[in-house]
Amino acid sequence: MTKRIPSTPAGWAEAGEMLKAGKLVAFPTETVYGLGADATNPEAIAALYAAKGRPAFNPLIVHVDSLASARKLAPFGIGALAVANAFWPGPLTLVLRRRPDCPVSELASAGLDTIALRIPSDPIAQAIIEAAGVPIAAPSANRSGKVSPTEARHVISDLDGKIDGIVIGPSATIGVESTILSFLTDPPTLLRPGAVTAGFIEEELGHRIQIGGHGADGSDANAPVAPGQLESHYAPSARVRLNAEEIRPDEAAMLFGYDLPPGIENARLAINISPSGDTIEAAAKLFSTLRELDASGARTIAIMPIPEIGLGEAINDRLRRAAAPRS
Ligand code: TXA
Ligand code: MG
Repeated sequence: MTKRIPSTPAGWAEAGEMLKAGKLVAFPTETVYGLGADATNPEAIAALYAAKGRPAFNPLIVHVDSLASARKLAPFGIGALAVANAFWPGPLTLVLRRRPDCPVSELASAGLDTIALRIPSDPIAQAIIEAAGVPIAAPSANRSGKVSPTEARHVISDLDGKIDGIVIGPSATIGVESTILSFLTDPPTLLRPGAVTAGFIEEELGHRIQIGGHGADGSDANAPVAPGQLESHYAPSARVRLNAEEIRPDEAAMLFGYDLPPGIENARLAINISPSGDTIEAAAKLFSTLRELDASGARTIAIMPIPEIGLGEAINDRLRRAAAPRS
């Protein structure tokens, strides 16, 4: 049984208690819903991998309540400290070396000597992490390889019966996962684009960063450095056709902007993720819309071009993964 936990101060306290006791509890953050587990408890982490059906080599993001807590897990250099001060709490994850005495389970870091850290800005997430009093590993609260959940009902549809609790909060406001920035390289490397853009980070640091992916930390180029980088990810059941200039009969269509494509009247279902062409609005609706279009039963989801502006970078990154050949 998965307990529905109301998003109230008492509910947040209860969620924190459950996490501390080794249970799996999903909760909202500003980016997407996360599936939390005590990062220092290897049994809880193992249960989390099992619930997600996630390949065990995917390391998890560890969520903490403050910079002081983060610094107990990993040393921060000047650059990391600058971006942490500028963008935390918020949708940014930093990859750093673990301290030798870091209490986070090796399993949470998938055996790497590095750790991914984030302080979410969502007050509900903050209250829960604070109540737990331990670092919380929290991948997106979906089955591995599926679309990330931005609403409590998405979590229920993927994980009901497989986890201990879910905090029934509001929709995630940002809608795409945090930016991941690795300080294992100099200059640092952007491993996953998100709401904190490369431009914002470069402005803060006063110099360029690298845009990376596989092997970006100088490690084995075949190792999943940021396994969000696994080719097929965020995959709906339907085939995904990107940069659609027209809609073919019986396709499900994801629209963007005011100007509608030809053939729209033949769509099985069409949803506009931002009639005004705003990439922030589009990001917030991206994953729920993908789910809804997929549920229409169409064999193909056609997606109109989305400009690489602002959150457009992160949106297109996720869409390319959704469209990648399935293994
Ligand atoms: O917005 C988010 O970050 C959400 C919410 C819940 O906070 N969480 C999230 O976690 O997206 P997840 O597990 O779905 O994505 C974790 C990403 C993966 O691509 C993983 O490879 C990368 O973080 N990662 C974790 N630890 C890493 C490490 N030590 N080195 C490189 N990448 C790492
Ligand atoms: Mg994920």
